[in-house]
Amino acid sequence: MPTERGESRVAVVTGASRALGREIARALVAKEFRVATCSTGPAGPGVGESLHVAVDVRDPESVGRFAEALGSHFGRVDAVVNNAGFASPVAPLGSATVEEIRRTFETNALGPIFVARALLPRLTAAPGGGVVVNIASRAAITPVPGLAAYSASKAALVAFTLDLAKETPSDRLFAVAVCPGGIDTEMRARLYGADDARRQLPVGDVARVVAEIVSDRTVAGRGFASGSAVLVTREQGAAVVEWPADARGFSSLEWRGPAKG
Ligand SMILES: NC(=O)c1ccc[n+]([C@@H]2O[C@H](COP(=O)([O-])OP(=O)(O)OC[C@H]3O[C@@H](n4cnc5c(N)ncnc54)[C@H](OP(=O)(O)O)[C@@H]3O)[C@@H](O)[C@H]2O)c1
Repeated sequence: MPTERGESRVAVVTGASRALGREIARALVAKEFRVATCSTGPAGPGVGESLHVAVDVRDPESVGRFAEALGSHFGRVDAVVNNAGFASPVAPLGSATVEEIRRTFETNALGPIFVARALLPRLTAAPGGGVVVNIASRAAITPVPGLAAYSASKAALVAFTLDLAKETPSDRLFAVAVCPGGIDTEMRARLYGADDARRQLPVGDVARVVAEIVSDRTVAGRGFASGSAVLVTREQGAAVVEWPADARGFSSLEWRGPAKG
C-alpha cells in the first residue's frame, strides 16, 4: 500500500531464490511492496520483485554492498525478512564436519546479524519505523536430535531478535522471530525425504503469516509486541509467544521452580 508520500514501501527478503523466501517475496509483492531479494545465485522464477542481487549473507562485505545497492535503487527500506538458511544432513553431532557447523552458524545466526546491522539506519529512518522478521525455527525452542548446530543457531537468532527489540525504540523498529515447524520445501526434503516434506506446512501458509507481520504488524488480525516470537505449526496455525519481562524490562524464560527428582 502506498505511504502518505505516495511511495510504496520497500521490503527485502534474503534467501529468496526458491521455497519459503520466494513465496514471502511473492506475498509481499501482492501486498504492493516494492521487493528486493537476494541469494548466493540468480533469482528464481519471477515473482515481480524489483531487484535481485547475488549476496552471501555470511560475508559482511557482500551484505554491505547489498545495503548500498538498496539505498541507491530505492532510497528507503521499510522491512527486512532474514530468511536465508542452511541445514546440514540430520546426524549425531560427532558426524557433522567443522565446515558444516561453521556454515550453519554463519548462515543462520551471523548472516541475519550482518544484514540487520547494515540496514538498521534505513529501517529506523523508515516513515512508520522499520520491521525485521527473522525466520528462526521451532527447533530454536524444541531442539531436534541430529540437528544440534542448526537448533543452536536458530536459538541464537531468537535471542538476537529479542535483544534487537530491546535495544531499539519500539516506534522505530518492530523485531519478530518467526519459528515455523517443518515446511514443505527442498530443505525439508533434503533432510527427511520428499514424502515427509509433503506432510509439512504448505510454504504459502508460512509466507502469508510473514507477509501479514511485515505489512500490518499483526497475526490473524491481532497486534502484538515487538520482541515476540511467533510459532507456526501445521496443527495449531500461528501463535504469538510473549517472553516474560523482569522488573528491569529484560525478557527471559520463565522460572518454574526447582525440578522434581
Ligand atoms: N523447511 C523447513 O522445514 C523449515 C522449518 C523451519 C524453518 N525453516 C527456515 O526457513 C528458511 C527458509 O527455508 P527453506 O526450507 O525455504 O530453505 P531452502 O529451500 O534451502 O532455501 C534457502 C534459501 O536461502 C538461500 N541461501 C542459502 N545460503 C545463503 C547465503 N549464505 N546467502 C544468501 N542466501 C542463501 C538459498 O539460495 P542459494 O542457495 O541460491 O543461495 C535459498 O534461496 C530458513 O531459514 C530455514 O532454516 C525451514
